[in-house]
Amino acid sequence: MVNPSPQRTGHVGSRILSVASYRPRTEVGNETIAALIDSSDEWIRRRCGIESRRRAAPDEDLVTMAAAAGSKALAGAGIDPRDVSAVLVATMSHRGRATTAAPLVADALGATAAAAMDLGAACAGFPYALATADALVRSGAAGYVVLVGAERMTDIIDERDRGTAFLFGDGAGAVVVGPAETCEIGPVVWGADGSRSEVLRYDEAGILRMVGPEVFRWATSVVPDVARRALDAAGISASDLAAFIPHQANLRITSVAAKALGLGPHVRVATDIITNGNTGAASIPQAMAALPDTTGPALLVGFGAGLSYAAQVVTLP
Ligand code: UT7
Repeated sequence: MVNPSPQRTGHVGSRILSVASYRPRTEVGNETIAALIDSSDEWIRRRCGIESRRRAAPDEDLVTMAAAAGSKALAGAGIDPRDVSAVLVATMSHRGRATTAAPLVADALGATAAAAMDLGAACAGFPYALATADALVRSGAAGYVVLVGAERMTDIIDERDRGTAFLFGDGAGAVVVGPAETCEIGPVVWGADGSRSEVLRYDEAGILRMVGPEVFRWATSVVPDVARRALDAAGISASDLAAFIPHQANLRITSVAAKALGLGPHVRVATDIITNGNTGAASIPQAMAALPDTTGPALLVGFGAGLSYAAQVVTLP
């Protein structure tokens, strides 16, 4: 090291300054999908709560959707893109290019001074990236961070796969994270179990394949556990929460977790999946943006391929 004691100005804490979402223009109802997989609107609603999802048109590529959400989040925070020091993109569906998505998103945003990288933790990607953004800001390595969860799941699913075709949707959600005098992004509780990665994987053609019931069983046990540990780490209890915003994987998983946590009627439970489907790493920020009138502490829990999970309590902007 050239300088043995480099100066770095860190911050006591960080916070989410704004949240925004991009939803593709085309809404696709259950009937359209059910016709291809010998299913029904009734079965899909009953098994996962989904009534419709958005599907990206050809001009709505992953980078375009991510930049649209990021740009809205920057405007909401009142931050000039040139003042952004890092752009993080959480995604599991960006493919076909040597470049990761983040440099392209940073370019589209006009974040010319920003470091840019993708973060791959599948449907746990958003809370993983949020923990990273928090650490970057507190260490002084970054000032303002744009964090986008973006997915074009249409590119990685088989429309004739009965186990996944009805579940996933496309879209992007973004937050801007910046310095704060107090810690408004709580300690992350995270982990992974690679020994079980086969239950949610890409096949040889790069198509997502899932052993749904096994993932469901794992999720209904891991989500309440990691949620409780995140509450403990933040030093609050479930009754202090204003909102519970888990990854929107299946409405039944959300309901099981909300019940296990004993959430009272005052806690807003995110149900964005009903009209948005499961949008992978985008689902948490999109669900957060769908609760615009809610402020105060929110518990976020991401989980999915890996198998990976991560949770933290944040103060909603
Ligand atoms: O986001 C990343 C993490 N992902 C998740 O957390 C997803 C977790 N898994 C799930 O959400 C659920 O497993 C699904 C929603 C994907 C599937 O629901 P399920 O209740 O686990 O269905 P299943 O695969 O156990 O199938 C139950 C029944 C079977 O029929 P029988 O054997 O009971 O007669 C299936 O053949 O439903 C049948 N089935 C279908 N019927 C109509 C399976 N898929 C379909 C379908 N339409 N698409």
